[in-house]
Amino acid sequence: MSETSETSVVIVYHSGYGHTESIANTVAKGVQSVEGVKVTMIKADDQDKDWDVLAAADAIVFGSPTYMGSVSGQFKMFMDESSKVWFTQGWKDKVAAGFTVSSSQSGDKLNTLTQLQIFAGQHSMIWVPLGMLPGNNSSTASIEDLNRLGAATGLMAQANADEGPDVAPQSTDHRTAEKFGANVAASAKRWASAA
Ligand SMILES: Cc1cc2nc3c(=O)[nH]c(=O)nc-3n(C[C@H](O)[C@H](O)[C@H](O)COP(=O)(O)O)c2cc1C
Repeated sequence: MSETSETSVVIVYHSGYGHTESIANTVAKGVQSVEGVKVTMIKADDQDKDWDVLAAADAIVFGSPTYMGSVSGQFKMFMDESSKVWFTQGWKDKVAAGFTVSSSQSGDKLNTLTQLQIFAGQHSMIWVPLGMLPGNNSSTASIEDLNRLGAATGLMAQANADEGPDVAPQSTDHRTAEKFGANVAASAKRWASAA
């Protein structure tokens, strides 16, 4: 769908206190590690966001903190704004993926990822999951394992409630986020070349 031969991945995210933004930046780093793929960041609550960039994307990655067991209100506003695109199915066949950050180990983050996946389905997008086995789930495992929170549908990260985005989420989640970004970029590239 890109006009150039480069595959375009857009990350649309909301972050109230910077933790989701720090993970978004690391996902972007992973995307950029794949040759021939470029990344653009869009803040979901930016009133002047460029919908044309989204229209031209090969893949869109959605990121929201988990607030009250759901996507944030600001991210939901973006979802509802996108109904204008839904009417024309403008994002049909684009690759989609999602991530969320919350302070509890669970924190009901799966509900947020499920919301993002259903949202992508409404837009007839192709959902790419996390693409990693669960870590940190055996007697010899540790929180240093990739995917320490054991997600499958998308990327989960956890940020201690009393720590700023300079230290939370911890490095394991950033390593997982970088690999996730690379996975999504590789899928987007494959899908774009097949189109
Ligand atoms: C309004 C609000 C609701 C929250 N609800 C949850 C929740 O349901 N589960 C949870 O684990 N953390 C919850 N948190 C904590 C945030 O998910 C956590 O602080 C996260 O790192 C915030 O991301 P951000 O810095 O990108 O805004 C909530 C925080 C706020 C401000």
